[in-house]
Amino acid sequence: MNPSNRPLEVCLQGLQRLEYRGYDSAGVAIVSPGMDQVAYEKKAGRLNNLKAALKRHPLPEGTVGIGHTRWATNGEPSDVNAHPHMSQDGKIALIHNGIIENANKLKFDLETEGYSFVSDTDTEVAAKLLGKVANQIIAQTGKPDLFEALRRTSKMLTGTFTLLAIDVRQPSIVVGSRHDSPLVIGVGKGESFLGSDVAAFVAYTHQAIEIGQDEAVEIEGDHVTVTDFDGHPVTPRHFTVDWDASAAEKGGWPSFMDKEIHEDPEAVSQTLMGRFDLDGRIKLDELHISVDELRSIDKIIVVACGTASYAGLVARYAVEHWCRIPVEVELAHEFRYRDPILTPRTLVVAISQSGETMDTLMAIRHAREQGSKVLAICNTQGSSIPRESDAVLYTHAGPEVAVASTKAFVAQIAAAYLLGLYLAQVRGIMFKDEIETQLNALRAMPKKIQWVLDHDVDTIKKTAQKMVSSKAFLFLGRYVGYPVALEGALKLKEVSYTFSEGFAAGELKHGPIALVDEGTPIVVIVPSPRGRNVLHNKVISNVEEVKARGADTIAVAEVGDRKAAEYADVVFWRPECPTLMSPLVDVVPLQLFAMYMAMAKGNDVDKPRNLAKSVTVE
Ligand code: F6R
Repeated sequence: MNPSNRPLEVCLQGLQRLEYRGYDSAGVAIVSPGMDQVAYEKKAGRLNNLKAALKRHPLPEGTVGIGHTRWATNGEPSDVNAHPHMSQDGKIALIHNGIIENANKLKFDLETEGYSFVSDTDTEVAAKLLGKVANQIIAQTGKPDLFEALRRTSKMLTGTFTLLAIDVRQPSIVVGSRHDSPLVIGVGKGESFLGSDVAAFVAYTHQAIEIGQDEAVEIEGDHVTVTDFDGHPVTPRHFTVDWDASAAEKGGWPSFMDKEIHEDPEAVSQTLMGRFDLDGRIKLDELHISVDELRSIDKIIVVACGTASYAGLVARYAVEHWCRIPVEVELAHEFRYRDPILTPRTLVVAISQSGETMDTLMAIRHAREQGSKVLAICNTQGSSIPRESDAVLYTHAGPEVAVASTKAFVAQIAAAYLLGLYLAQVRGIMFKDEIETQLNALRAMPKKIQWVLDHDVDTIKKTAQKMVSSKAFLFLGRYVGYPVALEGALKLKEVSYTFSEGFAAGELKHGPIALVDEGTPIVVIVPSPRGRNVLHNKVISNVEEVKARGADTIAVAEVGDRKAAEYADVVFWRPECPTLMSPLVDVVPLQLFAMYMAMAKGNDVDKPRNLAKSVTVE
């Protein structure tokens, strides 16, 4: 391969595309034949700082390169702590995601041998160790073997890591390894790519390869070798990325969050697409759990975090009602530590947009160790959670770039509903026409979501602007409106940094009502007046209760709901739909409300402070 600026250009655009993962510093390194030491640049702050530094001091042309954006877990964000980190002799550069738990011990040993460290990071320890191992191999065999050096180094590390390295002595290869942290390969024409997710390279190729747990990879041109940490070759799974680079671009929208909220309808329709046979029966081809096994399930446990867990809470109402199987929903990080009762007849459903949330990954590992089957509802091909599950049902929401999850939430509900109706179908719990009624209601939802986006945006925007200085919001909901209240509160706190909490409306009198005072803003998810009357009446009386104490009330209500119009100060309208489908429309005004509130405060809605898109550490 001839040196060119392509490796640097590819790294920088890949980092740009992965920006949404959140970071506080960035760096790149390149090598080419004849170099004595790796050429690199790294800077604290946003990618633009790195680009400006590269303009001031351009790097020489390279044959291969690596780039990294860092989210500080170990050592403050600074130029020196940014990746890449170098081996002692400067011949190898290494980047790392994750946390190396035995770094202190390794560092102590290396220091005893005379190694010195310039940063506070665990990554520098790995870089120095890799340099040492690489030199040992050269001393033993007379030639460099970075791939073997990385495998040996990987076996010496504990914790979580994805490592990528380059070496001036082998300027045509990049090597990588992974343990509990994501890494995917892209294969182009005469070139290959490695990235934390496919977004890093989808502009260059749609052909991708998964790398399994405790595996290592070497890429050279378009030649890819994958082995386990002992060097045994493995046959990895190839897949084609089903979205274009343009899907991960703003495309004229002021923010990714705005764009992605407006993609809610499509996220639902794409998730339903292609999942029916000619008779209209649900067929979930990718579900590799046998019908007999699905018939024998006596309990479902949903494990997820944040927004994904609220999608699970919504699904619980529908799945229990349709399938008559008990459904528990548990935050993944709590699930692991409470010794849950799991049997081979328990189906664990892991919901995750990114497929990389470490808490959820650990929960499914725990479940599988106990003999339960795990089904993932996931939006990201090639990611760890589906790879480690028995079956996967992909949501087809397209890449979600804004940190706050929006379109993935509605897609997760749609996928979980499909699963629920499929279980009802294979278990013979519902008649075909009953399933069809529900499916038709589900299929009608994208248009109804679109209705909200077409009709009510102005009211929502003005209300957010008017309430911008409110200090705290309460969100109330009952039945399926309860998880929507939780999600509405999460969205608002996440992007607008306004204190907000969601409650089950019935809990109000058990405590939260004490918070209500003159002018306290309260958002209430009002169920349809056409549905179970008792539900509607109860929620309306909650509105009355808080109004009587001076609250400023916003209702999310169905068009034509006279009582909501009478009692609430502002109403965000949504179209008529069956109660079980209502979360798909009720959440939309709350997503918009959070976004407009954040914009009114001048916040970066796509990258809220302190948050990262994929939480790949526990
Ligand atoms: C909120 C949000 C988070 C995620 C949570 C799980 O807007 O995005 O609460 O839902 O971190 O992430 P995934 O779905 O990637 O497992």
